[in-house]
Amino acid sequence: MQETAWWQHGVIYEVYPRSFQDSNGDGIGDLKGILQRLDYLVKLGVDALWITPFYPSPMADFGYDVADYCGIDPLFGTMQDFDQLLQGIHSRGLKLILDLVPNHTSDQHPWFLESRSSRDNPKRNWYLWRDEPNNWQSNFGGSGWEWDDVSGQYYYHSFLKQQPDLNWRNPLVRMAIFEAMRFWLDRGVDGFRVDVIWLMIKDDQFRDNPPNPSYRAGQPSSHRFLSVFNSDQPEVHGVVSEMRAVLDQYPDRVLIGEIYLPMPQLMAYYGEDLDGTQLPFNFQLLQTPWNTEALARAISEYHSALPAGAWPNWVLGNHDNARIATRVGAHRVRLAAMLLLSLPGTITLYYGDEIGMTNVFIPPEIVQDPAEKNEPGIGVGRDPERTPMPWDSSPLAGFTTGRPWLPLGDDHASLNVAKLDDVESILNLYRTLIALRKSHPVLVTGELRSVAAINNVLSYERHGEGERLRILLNLGDAPIPLESSIGEIIAATSPHCLSEQPNKLIQLGAAAGVIVRLRT
Ligand code: NOJ
Repeated sequence: MQETAWWQHGVIYEVYPRSFQDSNGDGIGDLKGILQRLDYLVKLGVDALWITPFYPSPMADFGYDVADYCGIDPLFGTMQDFDQLLQGIHSRGLKLILDLVPNHTSDQHPWFLESRSSRDNPKRNWYLWRDEPNNWQSNFGGSGWEWDDVSGQYYYHSFLKQQPDLNWRNPLVRMAIFEAMRFWLDRGVDGFRVDVIWLMIKDDQFRDNPPNPSYRAGQPSSHRFLSVFNSDQPEVHGVVSEMRAVLDQYPDRVLIGEIYLPMPQLMAYYGEDLDGTQLPFNFQLLQTPWNTEALARAISEYHSALPAGAWPNWVLGNHDNARIATRVGAHRVRLAAMLLLSLPGTITLYYGDEIGMTNVFIPPEIVQDPAEKNEPGIGVGRDPERTPMPWDSSPLAGFTTGRPWLPLGDDHASLNVAKLDDVESILNLYRTLIALRKSHPVLVTGELRSVAAINNVLSYERHGEGERLRILLNLGDAPIPLESSIGEIIAATSPHCLSEQPNKLIQLGAAAGVIVRLRT
């Protein structure tokens, strides 16, 4: 069997802590709550948790506005709770990945308070200050520049004005963030997912971005210009490899990068000589239309673009994108699970997708997400995919005893973990498919071959570790005949998806898939 590191063969599970489990009745999930649910994750079979930010924060962007890189926000608990959680994670053989947010701080971070206090403050140059704004936009709408009355200059923020961007050209900023990384690594965390890593360095001449010729009214205002000068700058790769060097001083840790870029630019984040992130997140499955041709193309293109020795990874959902069940339809979530868990490399799952959670409608008067508040009604809001995890059929779904910070889905009485414990549930399909990656390592390490879209069927093969598997996914609405002699079916999206016809032909049902071990 090919030797692989934990972050290579493992399945990573993203926990959005506000919505996972509340332990103190304030309606917001917390660290103690996560600890209470670890055995659920063990039974699911995942290997690592990535927990999105829980550092002290004014919560303007729900924790992505960090006011102290080395603390815990009281909303989520204490440092003692953190240590207990980490211990609980490690004692179960799981790993913990933290979210590192180095592109920007909160405007309440002591560094920024100092920086804005006067033009000659030693920390002035820790952020991006200018006399005149250019045309760079905030990703949450409007200009990215905010006027500061006190010191009489503008500062740049890629996101909210409460999230000023750090100046990564300043070596002192690098040192400060690397120190925060060491703080957590020394405490025992197993790696970082780095927030918006591709935005970290901006053009040193602050040139205006060119207009986006395909911009249409109604799109987010940040799409008005092409982000030529405020994202993916050549110098960013130097920063990434410095971060990696910090990590490499500790054994067996992982650096994951959040990157929304086209394929060739994305691949550059593996680094020259693979000294960048080990896993630049691959968001193909979030962005590709759900049809066989588009999926086959995305899968093949990703694999042929991988640099030599680079480890692949696949993501199906996260806290910034509509849930998979909503994107592809509830009747196709099983197919999506089989697709995700039969692709090569590291898999990242978003909490709740394993039970088929859908986006929850959030009426305008209770919107929480600043992205939606800034640009209402154009579909940029992320509350719908961040709603509380339904654990059981009790009135508040076992998530809290208080008032949940976002509403539970209307379907929580029927769609919840306790209800889905039967063998035929989507939850059990996830458990089975995750276990299959362990019993058939070819699914993790094997070569990907023969990716094809034939009408409504997406098919591909995995070769290695002494076996050959073929995956057949019927994305269509009609059953399709299968060659009955091709091999042994080792997994199916549901026990009823195969039917024998009078003429002895086997049919694969609509929106169903199988994994077949080919005869050698
Ligand atoms: C990406 C994070 O995933 C998102 O939730 C956040 O709002 C922005 N970065 C800003 O930190």
